[in-house]
Amino acid sequence: MSERVQRGFFFLFFFLLLLALKVRGSVYDANGDFFTGTWVLDKSYPLYQPSTCPFIEREFRCQGNGRPDLIYTHYRWHPLASNLLRFDGQDFLEKMRGKSIMFVGDSLSRNQWQSLTCLLHSAVPNSNYTLARVGDVSIFTLTEYSVKVMLDRNVYLVDVVKEKIGRVLKLDTIEGSKLWQGIDMLIFNTWHWWYRRGPTQPWDYIQLGNRILKDMDRMKAFEEALKTWGKWVDSNVDPTKVKVFFQGISPSHYNGSLWNEPSAKSCLRQKTPVPGSTYPGGLPPAVAVLKGVLRTIKTPVTLLDITTLSLLRKDGHPSIYGLGGATGMDCSHWCLPGVPDTWNEILYNLI
Ligand SMILES: *[C@@H]1O[C@H](CO)[C@@H](O)[C@H](O)[C@H]1NC(C)=O
Ligand SMILES: *[C@@H]1O[C@H](CO)[C@@H](O)[C@H](O)[C@H]1NC(C)=O
Repeated sequence: MSERVQRGFFFLFFFLLLLALKVRGSVYDANGDFFTGTWVLDKSYPLYQPSTCPFIEREFRCQGNGRPDLIYTHYRWHPLASNLLRFDGQDFLEKMRGKSIMFVGDSLSRNQWQSLTCLLHSAVPNSNYTLARVGDVSIFTLTEYSVKVMLDRNVYLVDVVKEKIGRVLKLDTIEGSKLWQGIDMLIFNTWHWWYRRGPTQPWDYIQLGNRILKDMDRMKAFEEALKTWGKWVDSNVDPTKVKVFFQGISPSHYNGSLWNEPSAKSCLRQKTPVPGSTYPGGLPPAVAVLKGVLRTIKTPVTLLDITTLSLLRKDGHPSIYGLGGATGMDCSHWCLPGVPDTWNEILYNLI
């Protein structure tokens, strides 16, 4: 091969590499990579004390429920490649003055919503707030700032409709979206209910197109629902007015083999994070499915890619200090103050 041809190949390769990085970058890393890093001890955390957030629900109120160790509240997320600003509630409120924020999803959305209401209230404790519930929507309002932080409980994003044959999970329809019109910032999430079976599964049939099915591959169903949601985003969201986020897959910790502690059968008595930046057990497969669908959406949607940073936090769950108390074992939700405060800290850095 002549030297010129070799040089040509070299430049072509280099160009393609740059192109690949650029395409990847425009989807996920437009604002710097906040999602690769480590947890470091920082006594200036947590960002608020539970006593300054009187409305934390019992489910997340670990200290109030008797959790004795507190080290888990003193960790700060330290991204390797970019500088994460500390959450500043007053600044957040000034930026969002007159605006509405809505979390849409399951109880992990409620976890993040509650974290944000605590972060904001504790930043301006003397500022009046109201907390109301209308149907499936909870509305926290900071009246002086006219900022509304809302939660729409909607576990699948797509519809579940009562019909003659029973309750039908409709993967192609998204009537619940009526509640999302006119909101300035939307943060979606769905995942934890897709593998639910037995008496707490809230549907009897699945509808995909014209087909009514008794059941189907759950990961495929999750993917179809995300595609329906993506189409809604592309045909309803004006990106000059509305910011759209996806909360990402929040992981659970019920198997210590995945963090090299095979004797651990749950997150109980875990007091510190996994050190370093990688989780031995790898990512849940849903993450790749979610990223695949997000790539097909034309409207800018920012993924809060919180899976890895949360995987490292085997110490962050309520375990027996949650809703079920000593007879429960919650390694899915997160104590507050705790990990979802970091999700909101990253959200603050992205707006
Ligand atoms: C807060 O609410 C109280 C009672 O409604 C009212 O008297 C007070 O003026 C409000 N404070 C502010 C700063 O708006
Ligand atoms: C825990 O994870 C390990 C490693 O992936 C796996 O072999 C094992 O079956 C898992 N245990 C349970 C109870 O799921």
